[in-house]
Amino acid sequence: MTMKINEALIAEHEQIKVFLGVVNVIFKKLATGESVNKEHLEQLILFMTDYIDKFHHLKEEDILFNKLEKYEMYGENDLVGELKADHTLGRMLKKSLEESV
Ligand SMILES: [Fe+2]
Repeated sequence: MTMKINEALIAEHEQIKVFLGVVNVIFKKLATGESVNKEHLEQLILFMTDYIDKFHHLKEEDILFNKLEKYEMYGENDLVGELKADHTLGRMLKKSLEESV
């Protein structure tokens, strides 16, 4: 069975939502000075780099955003701008994690 691109993106978002829950726990531990397993941090960074950035965000940036902009499907709100800002925020989050290792 072939999945449409929008279905794939929705499924990926569900996986990323679970991942962000884990990241939230890690950040709380780091913020309170609790120790965090270095290997777990490295695995989170790897997931962010390979799955979120190179696999998921690239699809959105190369395919979805171009289509939204081309067909002006974002309406009065700057949806593409908001999504691009989310990606920038995610990359900043990854940088913070990298600096904590
Ligand atoms: Fe996304």
